[in-house]
Amino acid sequence: MSHKDIVVLAAGKGSRMKSNKSKVLHEIAGVPMIRRVLETANNLSNSRLHLVVGHQGASVADHCQDFLANVVWQDNPKGTGDAVKRVADHLSGDGMTLTLYGDVPLIRQNTLEQMTQAGDDNTLVLLTVLLEDATGYGRIVRDENNDVMAIVEQKDATPAQAQIREANTGILLAPNKHLLSWLSQLDCNNAQGEYYLTDIIAMAARDGLKIVTVHPSSESEVAGVNDRVQLAQLEREWQKQQADNLMRQGLTLADPSRFDLRGSLKIGIDSFIDINCVIEGDVSIGDNVVIGPNCHLKNCSIGDGSHIKNNSSIEESLIAEACEIGPYARLRPGTKLAEKAKIGNFVETKKADIGAGSKVNHLSYVGDTEMGANVNVGAGTITCNYDGVNKFKTEIGDDVFVGSNSSLVAPAKIGSGATIAAGSTITKPVNNDQLAFARARQTNKDGWSKPTKK
Ligand code: UD1
Ligand code: CA
Repeated sequence: MSHKDIVVLAAGKGSRMKSNKSKVLHEIAGVPMIRRVLETANNLSNSRLHLVVGHQGASVADHCQDFLANVVWQDNPKGTGDAVKRVADHLSGDGMTLTLYGDVPLIRQNTLEQMTQAGDDNTLVLLTVLLEDATGYGRIVRDENNDVMAIVEQKDATPAQAQIREANTGILLAPNKHLLSWLSQLDCNNAQGEYYLTDIIAMAARDGLKIVTVHPSSESEVAGVNDRVQLAQLEREWQKQQADNLMRQGLTLADPSRFDLRGSLKIGIDSFIDINCVIEGDVSIGDNVVIGPNCHLKNCSIGDGSHIKNNSSIEESLIAEACEIGPYARLRPGTKLAEKAKIGNFVETKKADIGAGSKVNHLSYVGDTEMGANVNVGAGTITCNYDGVNKFKTEIGDDVFVGSNSSLVAPAKIGSGATIAAGSTITKPVNNDQLAFARARQTNKDGWSKPTKK
C-alpha cells in the first residue's frame, strides 16, 4: 500500500455564506464540514494530512488542531493549482496525492478507497460524475476512444465542450512522481487568470499516463456547499442517510424527515422515536424504548422498555429499564434513575440518584440527592441544595413519603420509611420510620367578620 499525501483545500472565502465565520466551519449534523472531511481522510490507511487554509485560516486551523494535519497557508489564493503548489515542498517524492475540498463534506471513505485502489505511479484517478446539468463545473473531455484528454473549466469551454455532462468533482489522486513536475508547469493563461489544478490532466495525457475515472455512489457525496441553502440540503441528506441506517437496524421513526441526530445513536430493537426529537452526542437506547415527540436527548442512555414522554430534555443521565419520564421533564447532568423510577411533568433533576420504583411526579426540583427505592415525592417538593455559596447533599432512604410542597433544606437526611408532612420545611435529620411535621399549626377563628371597603 503506497503512501498517501491528502491535501484538503479550505482557503476559499465562501462569500455566499454571508457569514462572519469561515464557510468550512459551518456544521452538518453538529460537526464542522472541514472536520467531517478530515475525519474521513484520517480513516484512510497510510496517509498524511495537509490542510490548506487562507481566508480565516487561523480559526479553521484552530478548530482542526487535534487532527495534527500539516497546516499550509495560502495567502492571496490564485486557484486550486496554486493551493496544491503551496504544499509541493511537503509532499513525499513517491506515493500519491489525494485532493479533497473542505466544503464537500459528505465524501465517503469507500469511494476514496476505490480511487486509491485504482491508482499507481503511472495512473491518474479522477472522481467524476454525470450530471443532468453540469453548468459551473469543469468538464471531462474524452477522445474518440473514450480516454480522458483534459478538463476544461466552464469559463474556458467551447460551446461543444459546455454540452459535456461528465463533471469534475475536484477530487483526484495523482502520483507524486509526476505531480511535482506538472505543478511547476502550471500557468494562469485562462479565462479566470488562475492556476488550475485541472490543467494537470492534459499533462498526464500528454505524458502517456493512464487516466482512470471513478464515480461516487450518489451526487450528495460530491456536492459542495456554497450557501446556506446548499448547507441545509446536505444536512437533510445526511439526516436521511442516518435515519435509513437506523430504521434498517430495527428502529421505528414516526417520520424520518423530522429526525435529527447530531452524534451517534446506539439502538436495540423495536424502539420508537416520535417526530422532532434532537439527539446529540453519544446516546444509546435499549429495546422497546418509546421516545415521544419534541424530546432532546444528549449524552445519555435509556434502558429497555423506558418511556420518555413528549417535550422532555435529558442530558448526561443514565436511565435504567422501564422508567417513565415526562411529559415536560428536565433531567440535567448526573441524573441516574434505577429501574421503574418515574419522573413526571415539570420536574427538574440534577446530580440525582433515584432508586428503583421511586416517583417524583409533579413540579419538583431534586438536586444533589441520593434517594432510595420506592420513595414517593409529592408535588412541589424542593431540595434546597444551595445556600448562595455552597451546595449540599440530600439523602433520602427507602420507602420514604414526602408530602407535597415540602422543602428539604440540605444537608438533609431522611431515614428509611419516614414520612414528611405536606408543607414542611425540613432542617433537621429525620430518623427511620418517623413522621416529621415542620409547619405552622392551623388555627381557625369562629365568627370572623370579613373586612369592608373603606
Ligand atoms: C473546481 C474545479 C472544477 C470542479 C469544481 C467542483 C479547478 C480549476 N476547478 O472549480 O473543475 O468542477 O471545483 O466543485 O480546480 N480553493 C483553495 N484555494 C484556491 C482556490 C480554491 O483552497 O486558491 C478551495 C476552495 O476553498 C474550495 C475548493 O478549493 O474548497 C474549490 O474551489 P472553487 O473555487 O469552488 O473551485 P471551482 O472554480 O468551483
Ligand atoms: Ca465550487
